[in-house]
Amino acid sequence: MVDALVEAGVVTSGAVEQAMRHVARHCFLPGEDVATAYADMAVVFKRSAQGQPLSSASQPTMVAAMLELLDVRRGQRVLEVGTGTGYNAALLSALVGPDGSVVTVELEEDLAEGAARVLAATGAGPVEVVCGDGGAGHQPGAPYDRIIVTVGAPALEVAWTAQLVDGGRVVAPIVGGDGIGSVVVADKVGGALERRSEVPCGFLLMRSTASTPPATC
Ligand SMILES: C[S@@+](CC[C@H](N)C(=O)[O-])C[C@H]1O[C@@H](n2cnc3c(N)ncnc32)[C@H](O)[C@@H]1O
Repeated sequence: MVDALVEAGVVTSGAVEQAMRHVARHCFLPGEDVATAYADMAVVFKRSAQGQPLSSASQPTMVAAMLELLDVRRGQRVLEVGTGTGYNAALLSALVGPDGSVVTVELEEDLAEGAARVLAATGAGPVEVVCGDGGAGHQPGAPYDRIIVTVGAPALEVAWTAQLVDGGRVVAPIVGGDGIGSVVVADKVGGALERRSEVPCGFLLMRSTASTPPATC
């Protein structure tokens, strides 16, 4: 999988290549065969009672492209919105190294618990998994050097800007009601976000605590 991403020019940095070679994606997709885990496709991980996808492991091409855009450095503090399987959180942990920190927020309690278990079992560096609405970020861990949103949001949330250090970066898919939109890269300069680039994308839509029964965790 990683060879193909490098060859396609999606993985361009040694740091992202090393992290992707280090973290075994199949461990985060229990129940899927290895071929599926390493295919370049999104894998639905949880569905609603009506069969609608609620969570998926994003397509490896998109995971890699967003990590390259995020430009994580060792020792940084990173917030992820949308833990899902925990795979991207493990990659972030590998990128920040032992002196950095990763906080990841997931709306669904069972997914948050499952991801925390797999992250611990696979020996990922310390990752704090928080169950909650990532639209509000996670103030107790702020400020962050990097924020990555892995679920389609209607806009860049005010909380994300507030919880980012000056000079920090947010990478987020900003999408319409059909999940189609652009991954936006924005840097915080003088207290405000400046948009750097946009890449077309399709993502599951962000839900809020208003649309989901509150979870206790
Ligand atoms: C595409 S998946 C994320 C994939 C994940 N990063 C991974 O590596 O597997 C999007 C996730 O965002 C979660 N989500 C949706 N709305 C959310 C919100 N408001 N706050 C936190 N997580 C949310 C979904 O439950 C789902 O697990």
